[in-house]
Amino acid sequence: MTVMITGGAGFIGSHICVELIQAGRNVVVYDNFCNSHPEVINRIRRITGTAPEVVKGDVRDVEALISALSAHRFSAVIHLAGLKSVADSVTSSAEYYDCNVVGTLRLAQAMQQTGVRNIVFSSSATVYGEPDVLPLREDHKLAPFSPYGRTKLQAEELLSDIAHSLPPLNVVILRYFNPVGSHESGLIGEDPNDVPNNLMPYISRVAIGRLPVLNVFGNDYPTSDGTGIRDYVHVVDLAAGHVAALDHVHKQKVLKVNLGTGRGTSVLELVDAYTAVSGRTIPFAFAPRRAGDIASYYASGDVAEETLGWRARRDISDMCRDAWNWQQKNPNGYLDQ
Ligand code: NAD
Ligand code: UD1
Repeated sequence: MTVMITGGAGFIGSHICVELIQAGRNVVVYDNFCNSHPEVINRIRRITGTAPEVVKGDVRDVEALISALSAHRFSAVIHLAGLKSVADSVTSSAEYYDCNVVGTLRLAQAMQQTGVRNIVFSSSATVYGEPDVLPLREDHKLAPFSPYGRTKLQAEELLSDIAHSLPPLNVVILRYFNPVGSHESGLIGEDPNDVPNNLMPYISRVAIGRLPVLNVFGNDYPTSDGTGIRDYVHVVDLAAGHVAALDHVHKQKVLKVNLGTGRGTSVLELVDAYTAVSGRTIPFAFAPRRAGDIASYYASGDVAEETLGWRARRDISDMCRDAWNWQQKNPNGYLDQ
């Protein structure tokens, strides 16, 4: 079974490559490396003993996609390639729609032209917007409030429509909650180019001394300790969810599934857990709320369990331990070759 992974050189994609290779799948990475480092392919080989084939290309380039998809008998595509910064999606909206929406459309067209029927798509819990009720179930209303979130929703919608067109596609839409951590080897992990926007990589950089202090955005939310609550999910569990999705994708036209743990963790609880596994002090200061942030959200995992037979196995301590292991072994990310 050969699988194409667009965006396979990125944080989540590289972990999916490892899980798939270890599950005996043949993997082709299709990536333009706009937010990843070629060294990651070498690291995947060091973990698994096999380097995935790499095609350097853009998901908006339909001819390049057709050529890549024609080179093997692909059973499925896992589509992760995209841009993911909420802040950048406000200042560079057109670029986000082009990459995330047009890129998904071009990929679907290339799949239709080459007879590849099955696609697993990386969506985000951000499509829900402000929760009416927790935990978030897949049938909750969808009202994203950033351009990034709207690109994800539009990509979901176009794939769902094309699934029922001719030739049809089978689509599994995975809505990730907050993926964190890294492979236990510490050879692959999250390597943001600039100052991290997200909490876990920010804590890691404070712990290693590359950043002086963590700003905790808001301590007046209606939560247990006043800080924001999220559903952090270990990236290796998330990757396993893709293996389960591939096993399921041909069974129905369109399936939408949350990938989270179902458990909420506050900012201060994550800082405590990281301190415990790293032995480092994480200096923090309370700062104003970040615009667009939600007080609390976490997943219902019922659909994932019922349809994919998937549930997260790793806890917050595992996530912090593996994030810290990656950070310690690669203080400068993939620049430490
Ligand atoms: P990432 O930036 O590490 O990986 C994305 C990969 O896609 C990179 O290797 C990048 O070079 C590639 N890419 C980007 N635009 C491309 C294009 N036009 N053509 C070809 N390749 C391109 O991000 P990630 O954290 O691994 O996220 C992967 C996917 O999961 C994204 O679609 C993202 O929106 C989604 N997602 C991520 C999170 C998260 O917290 N990381 C949460 C929810 C959803
Ligand atoms: C952010 C994105 C979301 C995306 C998700 C991917 C925003 C508004 N939302 O969500 O669209 O799908 O990442 O994982 O950017 N925090 C701090 N200090 C920091 C960083 C974060 O206190 O330096 C807090 C935040 O206020 C929040 C929590 O930590 O309460 C988690 O933040 P983050 O990791 O950025 O994830 P999300 O806000 O869930």
